[in-house]
Amino acid sequence: MTRIFSGVKPTGHLTLGNYLGAVRQWVATDQKPDDALFCVVDLHALTVEHDPARVRRLSRQAATLLLAAGLDPDRCTLFVQSHVDEHTRLAYLLECTATDGELRRMIQYREKTARAQAAGEGVRLSLLTYPVLMAADILAYGADEVPVGEDQRQHVELTRDLAVRFNQRYGPVFTVPKATLPAVAARVMDLQDPTSKMGKSHENGAGIVYLLDEPEVVRRKVMRAVTDSGEGGVVYDRAARPGVANLLDILAACTGGEPEELARGYEQYGPLKRDVADAVVELLRPLRERHAELAADPGEVERVLRAGAGRARALARPVVDRAYEAIGLLAP
Ligand code: TYM
Repeated sequence: MTRIFSGVKPTGHLTLGNYLGAVRQWVATDQKPDDALFCVVDLHALTVEHDPARVRRLSRQAATLLLAAGLDPDRCTLFVQSHVDEHTRLAYLLECTATDGELRRMIQYREKTARAQAAGEGVRLSLLTYPVLMAADILAYGADEVPVGEDQRQHVELTRDLAVRFNQRYGPVFTVPKATLPAVAARVMDLQDPTSKMGKSHENGAGIVYLLDEPEVVRRKVMRAVTDSGEGGVVYDRAARPGVANLLDILAACTGGEPEELARGYEQYGPLKRDVADAVVELLRPLRERHAELAADPGEVERVLRAGAGRARALARPVVDRAYEAIGLLAP
């Protein structure tokens, strides 16, 4: 069976981008627990300025939201990264496999470094090694597929390179994984700035739909989405009309259908925005309701995470032990 691994970083409230780009694919997989692993990657949240209490709160919230979105603990393993030591154990070996140059070329590293420097903040060393820890997350489980949004494609490519390099040098320890992206909405854009990704850690929430936003808030954000002048009707053109293309992508992702085809059904932006707002509200309604129920019983979420960590550890341990031996370390 194909083994799947993916993760979400608790640096902010989860967004529609996270859901359409990644989480929805996770929920759609019908797997056995050992073959579908989903992780709240809390160690990754420490790579930028962070507030300890907030990271803890967001980790719990992310896990609750993933269950509310439909992850079923009987069909997948849901756990928290820091609960399984194998991730950091393996990350060190992969740091001894990766080069400084290839890590400095990562787009997200360059963007986040520029942002930190502009804000006068230091850049944490862990920001540079971030993709190595991510590679360890994936390789520790021998994952075949990594369902992610477009922005993570480069990191998964690096993971492949590291796996191949390690295997060639020290023997066949790792499965070489591949990224799987959704057909539409692999990159949901910010509603206020449709040339940037809708990202959970952005400052301005007006262009971001959070999964727990109230229906009226979702509506307001969608109705105020930035578009162009609208001359010539509604057409799907990502380069020339990124705001409208984004709305059509979201609509297509919520209702099915092709964005180009959907564009033909509209002459003006007003009705398009109303339909997008309705579709997103309906998509998120069951998730919000289930989240409220689960949040009332935090003990249940904790039980799921504890059981998940136990299962994850049992899977990762032998792979990481094999890597330790292959690279030349003496068995304890
Ligand atoms: P993160 O937490 O930023 O995002 C979680 C998932 O959501 C996708 N995503 C989007 N998809 C479409 N449009 C958007 N606007 C959008 N924003 C986010 C991301 O592509 C991702 O799939 N580095 C990862 C976390 C990670 C990971 C891993 C993922 C750590 N280890 C191992 C997979 C495998 C991250 O920061 O995702």
